Amino acid sequence: MNTALRKTVIAGNWKMNNTPSETKAMIAELRPLVADATCDVVLCVPYVDVFAAVEAAAGSNIKIGVENIHWAEKGAYTGEISAKMLAETGAEYVIVGHSERRQYFNETDKTVNLRTKAALAGGFKVILCVGETLDQRRSGYTFEVVRHQTAMALTGVSADELKNVIIAYEPVWAIGTGETATDEQANEVNCYIRKVLADLYCENCANATTIQYGGSMNAGNAAGLLAQPDVDGGLIGGASLKPVDFSVIVKAGSAE
Ligand code: 13P
Repeated sequence: MNTALRKTVIAGNWKMNNTPSETKAMIAELRPLVADATCDVVLCVPYVDVFAAVEAAAGSNIKIGVENIHWAEKGAYTGEISAKMLAETGAEYVIVGHSERRQYFNETDKTVNLRTKAALAGGFKVILCVGETLDQRRSGYTFEVVRHQTAMALTGVSADELKNVIIAYEPVWAIGTGETATDEQANEVNCYIRKVLADLYCENCANATTIQYGGSMNAGNAAGLLAQPDVDGGLIGGASLKPVDFSVIVKAGSAE
């Protein structure tokens, strides 16, 4: 982290977990545990839980986000949700381009770009996910993959809009596997993504952008990862479903 240059953001990605009543109970438990955090705390929840989450987090330092967004304002897109619809929920963040959507739901660089632009135009903060598969890493394509995904996703996004973008580097091989990137691996790729942002925008823009790491981050390994200069937070799956564990990560993100 480099808190002098940019915000540290610890975000949970609940994925397809928790009912509305479970949402209320979990946030009630989490609130006091993260009340003195100095980093930003975000929970990205399933659409069906958004109203319960916003209500349960009201008056706290926990911000609520969702896990996807459609690019059209409205129309015949069964099962999708637009920025205009989300605007009335109180959600402030949107995850875009998660590898599970790329892997299982035919998300492409093109649709990631459309979703990113729609979310930004709708006034949301975007958590944009990029990351290589195990095969790509083994073949030496990690940098190429994250450069391509980042550049494609940000096509048509202005430097001003970039202020509302957080990049989450999530190596696919580390997600839900218990196999975390080492502190050095995470920092190396985050540092490279910052170079990509400097090329696409400017040095200052790159330095001001929060770049998280995600992939089996937990209460035990968070402090080491977050101590790296280019790891500005975490996008946390499994451990975000356990309030005490998540609060330990938030504490690590609040260290000076
Ligand atoms: P895990 O923390 O469960 O590995 O998930 C990471 C992730 O995909 C967050 O978006």
